Amino acid sequence: MNIIFKIWRQNGPTEKGELKEYLIEGLTEDMSFLEALDYLNEALVLKGEKVIAYEYDCREGICGQCGIFINGRAHGPHDHMTTCQLHMRSFKDGETIVVEPWRAASFPIIKDLIVDRSAFDRIIEKGAYISARTGTAPEANALPIPKLVADKAMDAAACIGCGACVATCKNSSAALFTAAKINHLNSLPQGKAEQHQRVQHMTAQMEAEGFGSCTFTGACEVECPEAISIANIAEMNARKLKANLLG
Ligand code: SF4
Ligand code: FES
Repeated sequence: MNIIFKIWRQNGPTEKGELKEYLIEGLTEDMSFLEALDYLNEALVLKGEKVIAYEYDCREGICGQCGIFINGRAHGPHDHMTTCQLHMRSFKDGETIVVEPWRAASFPIIKDLIVDRSAFDRIIEKGAYISARTGTAPEANALPIPKLVADKAMDAAACIGCGACVATCKNSSAALFTAAKINHLNSLPQGKAEQHQRVQHMTAQMEAEGFGSCTFTGACEVECPEAISIANIAEMNARKLKANLLG
């Protein structure tokens, strides 16, 4: 396959960026999208040019590091798939592919396709844990949790923190991410004792980081690789209202 990549190049956070065009020949449809970028980088090294900076870790849809815009869609053309799970067979021979970093004020560009998502870490630091010292993990069957509750918590816990929800939202809202983290713990008996302060502290940090407000357009749910439901946001809002009423 021959592909023309148009890739966002930006040397640093305060530098001016631009799309640069690269023709790359000899790709195969069995290559992953990230392998195609690796291939392009090898060619750049041989030419003595600066390699393209992009993030990844697991390359199997687990870590949430690899998010980029591909032809205007977060994580590429398929629903519920991370960039690292995308293969070149999803594109046509001779196609032009535009590759850009996440675009959101709260995710400043570090270099090329890499953005700073530490705002997510700071939201998590505000409450996505249980502060009680519980010692070693208890025997699993000693704390029965109804199947429906366990399933709901696990569905929310599937969030990998990739940031696609923020990047694809016209308001750059982090409501889906924050709601997933809050609902995961607040649904389980272990998280109940601190549920009100958790929702208050985490949503306050979300606002302090400058993420926009949620207007329920639903783009986040469509582009989320883990199919986290937008219903989590409604639930987070209800939890916050209750927490505020209880003082
Ligand atoms: S809610 Fe979905 S899109 Fe947002 S950070 Fe989590 S996994 Fe990524
Ligand atoms: S590299 Fe880990 S989810 Fe893509």
